[in-house]
Amino acid sequence: MAAIQKLYEVCKVSLSEKGPSSPETIENVRDVLDMITPSDVGLESEAQAVRVWRRPRALNRKTVFPSSPAIRYRHIYECKSFSIGIFCIPASSIIPLHNHPGMTVISKLLYGKVHVKSYDWIDIDDSRNLSKVRPAKVVRDGEISAPCGAMVLGNIHAMKAITPCAILDILSPPYSSEDGRHCSYFRRLPKSDPSGILLDRTRESEFVWLEEYQPSDNFVIRRDLYTGPTLNF
Ligand SMILES: [Fe+2]
Repeated sequence: MAAIQKLYEVCKVSLSEKGPSSPETIENVRDVLDMITPSDVGLESEAQAVRVWRRPRALNRKTVFPSSPAIRYRHIYECKSFSIGIFCIPASSIIPLHNHPGMTVISKLLYGKVHVKSYDWIDIDDSRNLSKVRPAKVVRDGEISAPCGAMVLGNIHAMKAITPCAILDILSPPYSSEDGRHCSYFRRLPKSDPSGILLDRTRESEFVWLEEYQPSDNFVIRRDLYTGPTLNF
C-alpha cells in the first residue's frame, strides 16, 4: 500500500468531525506521518534540489528576486473530519501568524529548513472585552530541519522558510466557514501586558499579546497540483 494511502486510512479511523478523539489517536496518525518522505507525495526532485541549494549571494534583494515565487498549496484530500495538503514555501517566504479555531494540526516538514513560531491561547476571563487582543503562550520558537518527525504545532503559528521547504499538514477537523472555523491572521503587540492580569501567574517572557489583522496583499497562496500517488477512497 502506498504510504500516502496508509496515511489516509489511519486518518479515516482516527479523526472525526470533532477532531481526534484522544491523544492516542493523534499518536496513531503521527506514527504514520513520521514515515512519509518527499518521494511518497511526488516531491522527490524538489527535495533533491534543496540538498544542493545555496542561498543566492545578493547585493540587492530586488536583483536576485525580481519576482518572488509564490507559496503553493498542493491539496491532497478533504472530508468533514480532516484535510491533507502540502505547503511548498520558497526560501525567505513567510506564512504569517494564523489560527486553526477548534482544530488540531499535525505537521511534517518533508524537506528543507524552516523557522516555526507557534502559540496556544491562554484562557482568560473575557469580561474585559479583550476579544480583539488575546494573550497566547509560546509553544515553539525555533528552526526545524528535515529529515525530522511529525509534530503537533500550537494552534496559532507562523513559518518562515530558511531554505525552500515543504510542510505536509493534517487538519482535523478542516477549516469550514459554515461551521465557524475560518482562518484569521494575527500580529504580536509590542506591549506585553496591556491589562496586567497575567503578570501574577505567568512569567512575562512566556506569553505574548496577539491582535487580529489583515496581512498585506503580497501574501498569496496559490493552489498547485498534487503529483503523488492517487488516493483510493
Ligand atoms: Fe497552519
